[in-house]
Amino acid sequence: MSRDFSGYPVLSGSDLAAGMDFAVEQILHVLPEFTEKFEKAYSEDGFYQPTDNEDWTTGFWTGEIWLAYEYVLENPGRFEKGAAARLKAAGLTQVDSFYDRIVNKRLVDHHDMGFLYSPSCVAAYKLTGNDKARKAALLAADQLLTRYQPKGEFLQAWGPMGAKENYRLIIDCLNNLPLLYWASSEAGDQKYRDIAEKHIHTAVKSVIREDYSTWHTFFFDPETGEPDHGATCQGYRDTSVWARGQAWGVAGLATAYRYTGRAEYIPLFEKVTEYFLEHLPEDLVPYWDFTFTDGSDEPRDSSAASIAACGMLEMSRYLPEEKAAYYTDLAKKLMKALYEKYTVKSFEESNGLVLHSTYSKKSPYNTCHPAGVDECNIWGDYYYMEALTRLSKDWKQYW
Ligand code: GLY
Repeated sequence: MSRDFSGYPVLSGSDLAAGMDFAVEQILHVLPEFTEKFEKAYSEDGFYQPTDNEDWTTGFWTGEIWLAYEYVLENPGRFEKGAAARLKAAGLTQVDSFYDRIVNKRLVDHHDMGFLYSPSCVAAYKLTGNDKARKAALLAADQLLTRYQPKGEFLQAWGPMGAKENYRLIIDCLNNLPLLYWASSEAGDQKYRDIAEKHIHTAVKSVIREDYSTWHTFFFDPETGEPDHGATCQGYRDTSVWARGQAWGVAGLATAYRYTGRAEYIPLFEKVTEYFLEHLPEDLVPYWDFTFTDGSDEPRDSSAASIAACGMLEMSRYLPEEKAAYYTDLAKKLMKALYEKYTVKSFEESNGLVLHSTYSKKSPYNTCHPAGVDECNIWGDYYYMEALTRLSKDWKQYW
Protein backbone atom coordinates (compact mmCIF):
# COMPACT_ATOMS: atom_id res chain seq x y z
CA MET A 1 0.00 0.00 0.00
CA SER A 2 1.52 3.30 -1.00
CA ARG A 3 -0.88 5.50 0.91
CA ASP A 4 -0.08 6.36 4.50
CA PHE A 5 -3.07 6.26 6.85
CA SER A 6 -1.04 6.56 10.05
CA GLY A 7 -2.05 10.16 10.81
CA TYR A 8 -5.81 9.57 10.80
CA PRO A 9 -7.68 9.38 14.12
CA VAL A 10 -9.54 6.20 15.08
CA LEU A 11 -13.04 5.95 16.43
CA SER A 12 -12.74 6.03 20.23
CA GLY A 13 -14.80 4.07 22.73
CA SER A 14 -16.75 7.20 23.65
CA ASP A 15 -17.43 8.02 19.96
CA LEU A 16 -18.71 4.49 19.53
CA ALA A 17 -21.03 4.74 22.53
CA ALA A 18 -22.30 8.17 21.47
CA GLY A 19 -22.85 6.94 17.89
CA MET A 20 -24.82 3.90 18.99
CA ASP A 21 -26.75 5.85 21.64
CA PHE A 22 -27.94 8.35 19.06
CA ALA A 23 -28.72 5.66 16.46
CA VAL A 24 -30.87 3.77 18.95
CA GLU A 25 -32.61 6.94 20.16
CA GLN A 26 -33.38 7.83 16.54
CA ILE A 27 -34.82 4.37 15.88
CA LEU A 28 -36.96 4.49 19.04
CA HIS A 29 -38.12 7.98 18.04
CA VAL A 30 -39.36 6.96 14.58
CA LEU A 31 -40.53 3.45 15.50
CA PRO A 32 -44.27 4.27 15.67
CA GLU A 33 -44.19 5.40 12.04
CA PHE A 34 -42.02 2.52 10.87
CA THR A 35 -43.39 -0.62 12.48
CA GLU A 36 -46.23 -1.56 10.14
CA LYS A 37 -44.36 0.26 7.38
CA PHE A 38 -40.67 0.37 6.47
CA GLU A 39 -38.22 3.17 5.84
CA LYS A 40 -37.87 3.69 2.12
CA ALA A 41 -34.56 2.90 0.35
CA TYR A 42 -33.47 6.54 0.50
CA SER A 43 -34.44 9.72 2.28
CA GLU A 44 -35.87 12.77 0.53
CA ASP A 45 -34.41 16.04 1.82
CA GLY A 46 -33.05 14.02 4.70
CA PHE A 47 -36.27 12.26 5.69
CA TYR A 48 -37.33 8.71 4.95
CA GLN A 49 -40.93 8.25 3.96
CA PRO A 50 -42.86 5.13 4.96
CA THR A 51 -43.17 2.35 2.40
CA ASP A 52 -44.65 -1.14 2.13
CA ASN A 53 -42.46 -4.22 2.12
CA GLU A 54 -41.73 -4.17 -1.61
CA ASP A 55 -38.22 -3.00 -2.43
CA TRP A 56 -34.95 -5.00 -2.13
CA THR A 57 -33.96 -2.80 0.81
CA THR A 58 -36.57 -3.27 3.54
CA GLY A 59 -34.54 -5.90 5.42
CA PHE A 60 -32.00 -3.23 6.34
CA TRP A 61 -34.57 -1.28 8.32
CA THR A 62 -35.60 -4.39 10.24
CA GLY A 63 -31.90 -5.13 10.71
CA GLU A 64 -31.43 -1.74 12.31
CA ILE A 65 -34.23 -2.57 14.73
CA TRP A 66 -32.49 -5.84 15.68
CA LEU A 67 -29.12 -4.14 16.15
CA ALA A 68 -30.83 -1.56 18.34
CA TYR A 69 -32.54 -4.35 20.29
CA GLU A 70 -29.18 -6.03 21.00
CA TYR A 71 -27.68 -2.73 22.13
CA VAL A 72 -30.56 -1.89 24.46
CA LEU A 73 -30.41 -5.33 26.06
CA GLU A 74 -26.74 -4.72 26.79
CA ASN A 75 -27.19 -1.10 27.95
CA PRO A 76 -30.62 -1.07 29.56
CA GLY A 77 -30.14 1.97 31.80
CA ARG A 78 -29.42 4.28 28.86
CA PHE A 79 -32.88 4.07 27.26
CA GLU A 80 -36.52 4.52 28.15
CA LYS A 81 -38.17 1.77 30.18
CA GLY A 82 -39.59 -0.94 27.94
CA ALA A 83 -37.36 0.01 24.97
CA ALA A 84 -36.14 -3.55 24.37
CA ALA A 85 -39.71 -4.89 24.42
CA ARG A 86 -40.83 -2.20 21.95
CA LEU A 87 -38.00 -3.02 19.58
CA LYS A 88 -38.59 -6.75 19.80
CA ALA A 89 -42.31 -6.34 19.14
CA ALA A 90 -41.62 -4.09 16.13
CA GLY A 91 -39.02 -6.50 14.74
CA LEU A 92 -41.45 -9.39 15.02
CA THR A 93 -44.25 -7.38 13.37
CA GLN A 94 -41.89 -6.92 10.46
CA VAL A 95 -41.07 -10.63 10.42
CA ASP A 96 -44.80 -11.22 9.81
CA SER A 97 -44.57 -8.92 6.82
CA PHE A 98 -41.50 -10.75 5.45
CA TYR A 99 -43.27 -14.09 5.94
CA ASP A 100 -46.29 -12.81 4.06
CA ARG A 101 -44.09 -11.43 1.28
CA ILE A 102 -42.25 -14.70 0.64
CA VAL A 103 -45.27 -16.97 1.03
CA ASN A 104 -47.16 -14.85 -1.50
CA LYS A 105 -44.02 -14.33 -3.63
CA ARG A 106 -44.53 -10.60 -3.69
CA LEU A 107 -41.67 -8.88 -5.56
CA VAL A 108 -39.16 -11.62 -4.81
CA ASP A 109 -38.15 -12.65 -8.32
CA HIS A 110 -34.61 -11.29 -8.08
CA HIS A 111 -31.40 -12.20 -6.26
CA ASP A 112 -31.71 -9.90 -3.24
CA MET A 113 -33.15 -12.52 -0.90
CA GLY A 114 -30.09 -12.30 1.36
CA PHE A 115 -30.27 -8.52 1.74
CA LEU A 116 -33.96 -8.89 2.51
CA TYR A 117 -34.04 -11.94 4.77
CA SER A 118 -30.66 -12.12 6.60
CA PRO A 119 -30.83 -8.89 8.64
CA SER A 120 -34.58 -9.28 9.21
CA CYS A 121 -35.56 -12.94 9.61
CA VAL A 122 -32.27 -14.77 10.17
CA ALA A 123 -31.48 -12.09 12.74
CA ALA A 124 -34.91 -12.50 14.37
CA TYR A 125 -34.48 -16.26 14.52
CA LYS A 126 -30.99 -16.03 16.00
CA LEU A 127 -32.02 -13.44 18.58
CA THR A 128 -35.48 -14.66 19.57
CA GLY A 129 -35.87 -18.20 18.21
CA ASN A 130 -38.99 -17.09 16.33
CA ASP A 131 -40.12 -19.97 14.14
CA LYS A 132 -41.94 -17.87 11.57
CA ALA A 133 -38.71 -15.98 10.95
CA ARG A 134 -36.89 -19.27 10.38
CA LYS A 135 -39.53 -20.49 7.94
CA ALA A 136 -39.56 -17.21 6.05
CA ALA A 137 -35.76 -17.22 5.70
CA LEU A 138 -35.74 -20.83 4.48
CA LEU A 139 -38.40 -20.00 1.87
CA ALA A 140 -36.32 -17.01 0.80
CA ALA A 141 -33.30 -19.28 0.36
CA ASP A 142 -35.42 -21.58 -1.84
CA GLN A 143 -36.48 -18.53 -3.84
CA LEU A 144 -32.87 -17.47 -4.31
CA LEU A 145 -32.03 -20.91 -5.75
CA THR A 146 -34.58 -20.28 -8.54
CA ARG A 147 -32.25 -17.55 -9.85
CA TYR A 148 -29.50 -20.06 -10.57
CA GLN A 149 -28.26 -20.37 -14.14
CA PRO A 150 -26.42 -23.67 -14.69
CA LYS A 151 -25.03 -22.33 -17.95
CA GLY A 152 -22.39 -20.03 -16.54
CA GLU A 153 -22.98 -21.23 -12.94
CA PHE A 154 -24.22 -18.03 -11.35
CA LEU A 155 -27.29 -16.47 -9.75
CA GLN A 156 -28.93 -14.12 -12.22
CA ALA A 157 -29.44 -10.76 -10.57
CA TRP A 158 -32.41 -9.15 -12.22
CA GLY A 159 -35.07 -9.54 -14.86
CA PRO A 160 -36.69 -12.52 -16.57
CA MET A 161 -34.58 -15.66 -16.27
CA GLY A 162 -32.49 -16.41 -19.35
CA ALA A 163 -33.12 -13.16 -21.23
CA LYS A 164 -29.89 -12.16 -23.02
CA GLU A 165 -30.02 -8.57 -21.75
CA ASN A 166 -30.28 -9.86 -18.19
CA TYR A 167 -27.88 -12.82 -18.37
CA ARG A 168 -25.53 -11.45 -15.76
CA LEU A 169 -24.44 -11.47 -12.16
CA ILE A 170 -23.58 -8.39 -10.12
CA ILE A 171 -20.82 -7.99 -7.55
CA ASP A 172 -23.31 -7.07 -4.81
CA CYS A 173 -24.69 -10.62 -4.85
CA LEU A 174 -21.74 -12.07 -2.94
CA ASN A 175 -23.44 -10.52 0.07
CA ASN A 176 -26.72 -12.35 -0.58
CA LEU A 177 -25.04 -15.74 -0.19
CA PRO A 178 -24.80 -16.06 3.60
CA LEU A 179 -28.54 -16.80 3.46
CA LEU A 180 -27.77 -19.94 1.44
CA TYR A 181 -25.06 -21.07 3.87
CA TRP A 182 -27.40 -20.47 6.78
CA ALA A 183 -30.16 -22.46 5.02
CA SER A 184 -27.78 -25.35 4.34
CA SER A 185 -26.87 -25.76 7.97
CA GLU A 186 -30.39 -25.03 9.24
CA ALA A 187 -32.14 -27.42 6.82
CA GLY A 188 -29.28 -29.93 6.77
CA ASP A 189 -29.25 -29.75 2.98
CA GLN A 190 -26.07 -29.28 0.95
CA LYS A 191 -27.88 -27.92 -2.12
CA TYR A 192 -27.91 -24.29 -0.93
CA ARG A 193 -24.19 -24.33 -0.16
CA ASP A 194 -23.36 -25.97 -3.52
CA ILE A 195 -25.08 -23.20 -5.48
CA ALA A 196 -23.51 -20.51 -3.30
CA GLU A 197 -20.03 -21.93 -3.97
CA LYS A 198 -20.62 -22.12 -7.70
CA HIS A 199 -21.76 -18.51 -7.76
CA ILE A 200 -18.80 -17.34 -5.65
CA HIS A 201 -16.37 -19.14 -7.93
CA THR A 202 -17.89 -17.61 -11.07
CA ALA A 203 -18.21 -14.14 -9.55
CA VAL A 204 -14.66 -14.00 -8.23
CA LYS A 205 -13.29 -15.12 -11.61
CA SER A 206 -15.31 -12.56 -13.56
CA VAL A 207 -15.86 -9.33 -11.62
CA ILE A 208 -12.30 -8.68 -10.40
CA ARG A 209 -10.18 -6.92 -13.00
CA GLU A 210 -6.44 -7.26 -13.43
CA ASP A 211 -5.75 -4.15 -11.35
CA TYR A 212 -8.14 -5.40 -8.60
CA SER A 213 -10.77 -2.83 -9.35
CA THR A 214 -14.14 -4.44 -10.08
CA TRP A 215 -16.90 -4.60 -12.63
CA HIS A 216 -20.32 -3.84 -11.25
CA THR A 217 -22.01 -6.44 -13.44
CA PHE A 218 -20.75 -9.24 -15.68
CA PHE A 219 -22.58 -10.82 -18.61
CA PHE A 220 -22.40 -14.43 -19.81
CA ASP A 221 -23.40 -16.01 -23.09
CA PRO A 222 -26.81 -17.62 -22.48
CA GLU A 223 -26.12 -20.33 -25.10
CA THR A 224 -22.73 -21.47 -23.85
CA GLY A 225 -22.41 -19.94 -20.38
CA GLU A 226 -19.05 -18.48 -21.38
CA PRO A 227 -18.00 -15.17 -19.76
CA ASP A 228 -18.86 -12.33 -22.11
CA HIS A 229 -18.26 -8.81 -20.85
CA GLY A 230 -18.33 -6.50 -17.86
CA ALA A 231 -20.62 -3.49 -17.67
CA THR A 232 -21.95 -1.07 -15.15
CA CYS A 233 -25.45 -0.14 -14.13
CA GLN A 234 -24.89 2.27 -11.22
CA GLY A 235 -21.25 3.27 -11.78
CA TYR A 236 -20.26 6.29 -13.82
CA ARG A 237 -19.30 4.27 -16.89
CA ASP A 238 -18.62 0.65 -17.79
CA THR A 239 -14.87 0.84 -17.22
CA SER A 240 -14.93 3.08 -14.13
CA VAL A 241 -15.07 1.83 -10.55
CA TRP A 242 -18.38 2.24 -8.75
CA ALA A 243 -17.37 2.92 -5.14
CA ARG A 244 -20.14 0.85 -3.58
CA GLY A 245 -19.45 -2.00 -5.98
CA GLN A 246 -15.83 -2.08 -4.79
CA ALA A 247 -17.10 -2.02 -1.19
CA TRP A 248 -19.50 -4.89 -1.91
CA GLY A 249 -16.41 -6.69 -3.22
CA VAL A 250 -14.48 -6.07 0.03
CA ALA A 251 -17.37 -7.37 2.14
CA GLY A 252 -18.22 -10.13 -0.33
CA LEU A 253 -14.68 -11.53 -0.40
CA ALA A 254 -14.54 -11.58 3.41
CA THR A 255 -17.77 -13.55 3.40
CA ALA A 256 -16.55 -15.80 0.60
CA TYR A 257 -13.45 -16.65 2.63
CA ARG A 258 -15.45 -17.17 5.79
CA TYR A 259 -17.74 -19.72 4.19
CA THR A 260 -15.43 -21.48 1.74
CA GLY A 261 -12.12 -21.31 3.63
CA ARG A 262 -10.36 -21.00 0.25
CA ALA A 263 -6.88 -19.58 0.93
CA GLU A 264 -6.72 -17.92 -2.51
CA TYR A 265 -9.47 -15.50 -1.42
CA ILE A 266 -7.20 -13.89 1.20
CA PRO A 267 -4.84 -12.13 -1.26
CA LEU A 268 -7.85 -11.23 -3.41
CA PHE A 269 -9.50 -9.62 -0.41
CA GLU A 270 -6.28 -7.74 0.35
CA LYS A 271 -5.89 -6.42 -3.20
CA VAL A 272 -9.53 -5.41 -3.69
CA THR A 273 -9.47 -3.69 -0.29
CA GLU A 274 -6.20 -1.96 -1.13
CA TYR A 275 -7.75 -0.60 -4.32
CA PHE A 276 -10.67 0.76 -2.30
CA LEU A 277 -8.42 2.38 0.29
CA GLU A 278 -5.92 3.82 -2.20
CA HIS A 279 -8.73 5.60 -4.05
CA LEU A 280 -10.37 7.25 -1.06
CA PRO A 281 -10.31 11.04 -0.97
CA GLU A 282 -8.53 12.89 1.82
CA ASP A 283 -11.41 12.57 4.31
CA LEU A 284 -11.77 8.77 3.73
CA VAL A 285 -15.38 8.89 2.50
CA PRO A 286 -15.58 7.94 -1.18
CA TYR A 287 -17.24 9.82 -3.97
CA TRP A 288 -19.94 7.66 -5.57
CA ASP A 289 -17.52 6.53 -8.27
CA PHE A 290 -13.74 6.47 -8.07
CA THR A 291 -13.62 8.55 -11.25
CA PHE A 292 -14.13 11.44 -8.83
CA THR A 293 -11.92 12.55 -5.99
CA ASP A 294 -10.91 15.63 -4.00
CA GLY A 295 -11.98 18.83 -5.71
CA SER A 296 -14.97 17.25 -7.44
CA ASP A 297 -18.47 18.54 -6.71
CA GLU A 298 -19.97 15.10 -7.37
CA PRO A 299 -21.74 13.54 -4.36
CA ARG A 300 -20.24 11.01 -1.96
CA ASP A 301 -21.43 7.53 -1.19
CA SER A 302 -20.94 7.32 2.56
CA SER A 303 -22.58 3.88 2.58
CA ALA A 304 -19.57 2.46 0.72
CA ALA A 305 -17.32 3.41 3.66
CA SER A 306 -19.50 1.54 6.17
CA ILE A 307 -19.81 -1.52 3.94
CA ALA A 308 -16.04 -1.67 3.44
CA ALA A 309 -15.48 -1.20 7.20
CA CYS A 310 -17.78 -4.16 7.90
CA GLY A 311 -15.89 -6.24 5.32
CA MET A 312 -12.53 -5.41 6.91
CA LEU A 313 -13.86 -6.21 10.38
CA GLU A 314 -15.30 -9.51 9.15
CA MET A 315 -12.01 -10.51 7.53
CA SER A 316 -10.10 -9.52 10.67
CA ARG A 317 -11.73 -12.47 12.40
CA TYR A 318 -9.83 -14.90 10.20
CA LEU A 319 -6.47 -13.21 9.72
CA PRO A 320 -3.30 -13.49 11.84
CA GLU A 321 -3.09 -10.96 14.66
CA GLU A 322 -0.98 -8.34 12.91
CA LYS A 323 -3.08 -8.23 9.76
CA ALA A 324 -6.30 -8.31 11.77
CA ALA A 325 -5.09 -5.30 13.76
CA TYR A 326 -4.19 -3.50 10.53
CA TYR A 327 -7.68 -3.88 9.03
CA THR A 328 -9.41 -3.15 12.34
CA ASP A 329 -7.43 0.07 12.63
CA LEU A 330 -8.43 1.11 9.10
CA ALA A 331 -12.06 0.29 9.78
CA LYS A 332 -11.93 2.47 12.90
CA LYS A 333 -10.49 5.31 10.82
CA LEU A 334 -13.25 5.09 8.25
CA MET A 335 -15.86 4.99 11.00
CA LYS A 336 -14.30 7.98 12.74
CA ALA A 337 -14.49 9.94 9.47
CA LEU A 338 -18.17 9.03 9.09
CA TYR A 339 -19.00 9.65 12.72
CA GLU A 340 -17.39 13.09 12.81
CA LYS A 341 -18.61 14.61 9.56
CA TYR A 342 -21.34 12.52 7.98
CA THR A 343 -23.71 11.40 10.70
CA VAL A 344 -27.04 12.92 11.64
CA LYS A 345 -26.84 14.83 14.91
CA SER A 346 -30.47 15.60 15.76
CA PHE A 347 -34.02 14.38 15.08
CA GLU A 348 -34.73 17.73 13.40
CA GLU A 349 -31.95 17.33 10.85
CA SER A 350 -33.08 13.94 9.52
CA ASN A 351 -34.86 10.76 10.58
CA GLY A 352 -31.93 8.66 9.30
CA LEU A 353 -28.42 8.04 10.62
CA VAL A 354 -25.81 8.80 7.95
CA LEU A 355 -25.97 11.59 5.40
CA HIS A 356 -24.34 11.91 1.97
CA SER A 357 -24.96 8.50 0.51
CA THR A 358 -25.80 7.91 -3.15
CA TYR A 359 -28.09 5.13 -4.34
CA SER A 360 -28.05 5.64 -8.13
CA LYS A 361 -26.77 8.69 -9.95
CA LYS A 362 -27.44 8.97 -13.66
CA SER A 363 -24.43 9.65 -15.86
CA PRO A 364 -24.29 10.01 -19.64
CA TYR A 365 -22.93 6.44 -19.77
CA ASN A 366 -24.79 4.32 -17.22
CA THR A 367 -28.19 2.62 -17.27
CA CYS A 368 -29.54 3.32 -13.79
CA HIS A 369 -32.66 5.18 -12.75
CA PRO A 370 -31.61 8.14 -10.61
CA ALA A 371 -32.60 7.81 -6.96
CA GLY A 372 -31.38 8.78 -3.51
CA VAL A 373 -28.49 11.03 -4.55
CA ASP A 374 -26.69 12.70 -1.63
CA GLU A 375 -29.24 11.43 0.88
CA CYS A 376 -29.42 8.87 3.66
CA ASN A 377 -29.65 5.36 2.21
CA ILE A 378 -31.14 2.62 4.34
CA TRP A 379 -28.23 0.17 3.88
CA GLY A 380 -25.81 3.02 4.71
CA ASP A 381 -27.57 3.44 8.04
CA TYR A 382 -27.66 -0.33 8.61
CA TYR A 383 -23.97 -0.98 7.86
CA TYR A 384 -22.95 2.03 9.96
CA MET A 385 -24.71 0.43 12.94
CA GLU A 386 -23.34 -3.00 12.05
CA ALA A 387 -19.77 -1.63 11.98
CA LEU A 388 -20.24 0.06 15.37
CA THR A 389 -21.71 -3.16 16.75
CA ARG A 390 -18.79 -5.20 15.38
CA LEU A 391 -16.39 -2.78 17.07
CA SER A 392 -18.21 -3.02 20.39
CA LYS A 393 -18.18 -6.79 20.93
CA ASP A 394 -17.67 -10.23 19.43
CA TRP A 395 -20.81 -9.88 17.33
CA LYS A 396 -22.78 -12.98 16.27
CA GLN A 397 -23.42 -12.12 12.63
CA TYR A 398 -26.88 -12.05 11.06
CA TRP A 399 -25.19 -12.97 7.75
N1 GLY B 1 -27.33 -3.79 -4.26
C1 GLY B 1 -27.83 -2.65 -4.93
C2 GLY B 1 -27.11 -1.42 -4.59
O1 GLY B 1 -26.10 -1.44 -3.91
O2 GLY B 1 -27.59 -0.36 -5.01
